[in-house]
Amino acid sequence: MRDLVHRLVGERTLKRDEFRALIASCDSQTLEYIRKESVRTAQERFGHGIFVRGLIEISSFCRNDCAYCGLRRSNRSAERYRLNHEQIIECCKEGYDAGLRTFVLQGGEDASLTDEWLEQIIYDIRHIYPDVAITLSLGERSYASYKRLYDAGATRYLLRHEAANEELYLKLHPQTMSHSNRIACIENLKEIGYQTGMGMMIGVKGQSVDDLVDDLLLMERIRPQMIGIGPFIPHRNTPLGDYPAGSVELTLLLLSIVRLMHPTALIPSTTALATLSADGRRMGILSGANVVMPNLTPPSERKKYAIYEDKASSGSEAVEGLKVLEQELNEIGYHIDYSRGDYKTNDTL
Ligand code: 5AD
Repeated sequence: MRDLVHRLVGERTLKRDEFRALIASCDSQTLEYIRKESVRTAQERFGHGIFVRGLIEISSFCRNDCAYCGLRRSNRSAERYRLNHEQIIECCKEGYDAGLRTFVLQGGEDASLTDEWLEQIIYDIRHIYPDVAITLSLGERSYASYKRLYDAGATRYLLRHEAANEELYLKLHPQTMSHSNRIACIENLKEIGYQTGMGMMIGVKGQSVDDLVDDLLLMERIRPQMIGIGPFIPHRNTPLGDYPAGSVELTLLLLSIVRLMHPTALIPSTTALATLSADGRRMGILSGANVVMPNLTPPSERKKYAIYEDKASSGSEAVEGLKVLEQELNEIGYHIDYSRGDYKTNDTL
């Protein structure tokens, strides 16, 4: 096992059956070792700074019906909301005043979020705050739409691939969605010039070790600049409501592997990890993550953006809690890095 980790550190990849062995047979000692190596790799590139991204959940409406997600269309008890233009600008003001320099506009696939409307928001944020980065996380859209929003000033896009294995992908998603379109969207985003994020949940129903290896190999091929990985957490009003949450340890292992494969990637310590475990965020950072995403959504709407139950959205998960976050980070020898933290392609490390 140690030898496999050693090779992964040196070569930044392994063969399929070696990845499989590492994931299937990782014991606690190996996990400690790989986490140490991935932290060292992240520190070589990023020092002890952790980037912060302000998350603005702009709409909880969604036309999709994904088996795992509480915002799925057929969840009739979900409370829906959509922020208006002024509310979004207000969130940015609050975030900017708190020192944040990246805003992530995230939402369900809501047909009301038209290109015109988004373009205006992006344009306004860009002009009021010329020094911020604007990230979008709004699901699948056409090439033309992605291009238009890029031209308006958005430079990063998060679109998790969710499952590299097509069979698993089809089980988790409605018939209206296709694996090939998902991948095409990710490739379009990269081609247009977005810093692009991919990722998947750990421990979702039907996911095997081989599926995780497929995820690793797909991301190795596409080379996203950002990679989001968190444990699956059930939501009672979904078909996976009775399925157990993903394992924290397995999530940390995958985070570590991904860090070793992608030394310069921007990898968040996700809210899902912080929701499942009191020191989840810390453990994510101590497995190679280098980003946290405090919630900037107006507190009155936050609970409604329930992709899973009991989603952490207060304390150091929220923008009001940046001081708490700083303290938490200080305790493990880190600090908040308030810079934009763009992905730099000319880095050699
Ligand atoms: N548990 C954990 N993560 C989830 N996501 C959606 N539903 C859940 C859930 N029940 C993740 C998906 C999506 C991201 C925004 O949140 O991977 O891409």
